[in-house]
Amino acid sequence: MPHYGDYQNAIYFAGLSGIVPEWPVDHAGLRARAEAHWPAAVRDYVQGGCGDEATQDGNAAAFDHWGMTPRMMVDTSARDLATTLFGHRLPSPLFMAPIGINGICTDDGHGDLAAARASNVTGVPFCASTLANDPLEDVRAACGAAPALFQLYTPREPDVAASLVARAEAAGYAAIVVTLDTWVTGWRPRDLNTGNFPQLRGAVLANYFTDPAFRALLARPPEEDRQAAIMTWAATFGRVLTWNDMTWLRSLTSLPIILKGICHPDDARRAIDAGADGIYVSNHGGRQANGGVAAIDHLPAVVEAVAGRVPVLFDSGVRSGTDMVKAIALGADLVGLGRPYCYGLALGGAEGCAHVLKCVLAEADLLMAVNGWPTLAAVRAAGAIRT
Ligand SMILES: Cc1cc2nc3c(=O)[nH]c(=O)nc-3n(C[C@H](O)[C@H](O)[C@H](O)COP(=O)(O)O)c2cc1C
Repeated sequence: MPHYGDYQNAIYFAGLSGIVPEWPVDHAGLRARAEAHWPAAVRDYVQGGCGDEATQDGNAAAFDHWGMTPRMMVDTSARDLATTLFGHRLPSPLFMAPIGINGICTDDGHGDLAAARASNVTGVPFCASTLANDPLEDVRAACGAAPALFQLYTPREPDVAASLVARAEAAGYAAIVVTLDTWVTGWRPRDLNTGNFPQLRGAVLANYFTDPAFRALLARPPEEDRQAAIMTWAATFGRVLTWNDMTWLRSLTSLPIILKGICHPDDARRAIDAGADGIYVSNHGGRQANGGVAAIDHLPAVVEAVAGRVPVLFDSGVRSGTDMVKAIALGADLVGLGRPYCYGLALGGAEGCAHVLKCVLAEADLLMAVNGWPTLAAVRAAGAIRT
């Protein structure tokens, strides 16, 4: 039975012929290479966070104060990381979080397609952002047989929101992820210091420019007056959502709706009462609000509040397979990788991205092997303690 950990053997055996991995397998090495590769504007947009970035840094650091206890004399020679989401079989609980700048993370400007191809190769589901350089239909097609999610930044114009959701449903996405924390952009000093906001320069707006409802707002099409189209995008980007909007959101689609950005257990309960099909614990990687508790520290209370009624997705600060296993141990059903897969996109497009996903999965799989947990259920049963 093949295992994700086999990636390690492939690397060691290639090493016997003097071949070393084209890209680093460790997070720090990947990050450093990607930072050196990107133009400064892309680097700062991806790496930057809100305020002094304390929450952003704290998200990753907080994984260190959760620890797990191994069990011995367990046969873990066969491991099974497979799970399901809304009836779709997934090979593992790992997914790619929505990153609305993937498009310019690769040198060719088609990073969304590259991420989708990495999903196709690895089976790791891709959550495609509304902000993309290629239309959501093309991105979905590039995911192949792997299930994909569509993340909605809800436009102020209801017709545009409805159109984007309808397109996602028609394209075959498995669920709509509605991001709740980003109707306005958080205070990001790295980007402010250089006056750089990529969308205002026309980046990653393909879903809007190809959308009939968005185009209907324009006097002239984006191909003729790009600047006016960009300004219309800016004026209509972010709808302030309240619980009252759930009925409307529900009316747009028969797909499951996952609410992203939930950190408080009361919000999780309310979301389920309001009809949410999934809860996504995230603080947007610390990009939107500073001064927050690390996202992983919110997870146990939200999991308790959800009580198994709907799937709990998690991201923010996941840097390794070990972090992925810790999030599972703390009750997440699916774990989202964010910035690290962008580093893979930067260094090697779809292949580089797939490499990063394989490294995370190999580390997680080998950790489960060593620690006596052959299944995700065993990881959950073992749990993690705050050290
Ligand atoms: C450059 C960048 C762009 C992002 N764009 C989006 C987006 O379009 N939609 C969204 O819901 N979240 C977006 N996020 C947040 C991610 O989905 C995820 O919550 C975050 O990356 C997790 O933090 P981490 O990457 O530090 O682990 C973005 C994050 C980054 C770093």
